[in-house]
Amino acid sequence: MIECCTSLIKDNNGENKLPKSCLILYASWTGNTEKIALIFKNVFERNGWSCDLYKVDRNTDFTKIPFNYDDYDFMCVGSPIHNSLPLEEVITSLRKASMEQSHKALPHEKIIFSGKKGITFATYSGAHLGPKEAIVALSWMDLEMEHKRFQCIGNFCCPGYTPPPVEKNSINLPSEDACYHGDISNRPNQKDFQRAEMFIEDILEEIAIRLG
Ligand SMILES: Cc1cc2nc3c(=O)[nH]c(=O)nc-3n(C[C@H](O)[C@H](O)[C@H](O)COP(=O)(O)O)c2cc1C
Repeated sequence: MIECCTSLIKDNNGENKLPKSCLILYASWTGNTEKIALIFKNVFERNGWSCDLYKVDRNTDFTKIPFNYDDYDFMCVGSPIHNSLPLEEVITSLRKASMEQSHKALPHEKIIFSGKKGITFATYSGAHLGPKEAIVALSWMDLEMEHKRFQCIGNFCCPGYTPPPVEKNSINLPSEDACYHGDISNRPNQKDFQRAEMFIEDILEEIAIRLG
């Protein structure tokens, strides 16, 4: 389901013009990554951008994605980390092909960037090694985004809690204190949301400087 908001803004001469547009494409099983996606959307919109959210899951028909990536100026791609990787549906959506054929959809030519930019984001538990556990997934999403000719200029990650699937006492889970981030049962928290906001504010400033 794509969630859309477009409004006219004034340029320096007082003329109406279409705002710059951002696509946030993400997956989220238990809502943590979605919370970050919503924070990002809010920051884009209060800075005068239009921003569409597109949430994917394994039931998404990847051959019928209801938008054109080329219509956007900026892209954010996000996923929870599962087994050190982003969710397959996120990668496949970027390749815009069926799950089975996604490997065939890559262009066999040097990528020339068109000036469009993007960022990747993830939530993760990082019990063993902290943020390092998000890096492979962020890099993979970065790669796929660049295949779509959006140059990746940053990435964001923060811890996110997923409750254990079975009664905690019945399996040999480490105590929360033994985990890299300690107790993450309230993550992402207010501080993570503030970091997420600051991250996008900085990116918008950077884009504005680069574009002059
Ligand atoms: C099946 C499964 C596998 C996971 N694997 C990892 C992992 O390899 N590394 C990690 O840091 N977190 C892992 N996590 C934790 C999630 O990435 C984390 O809780 C995330 O915030 C969930 O995001 P969501 O609420 O958007 O689905 C895993 C969670 C699940 C359910």
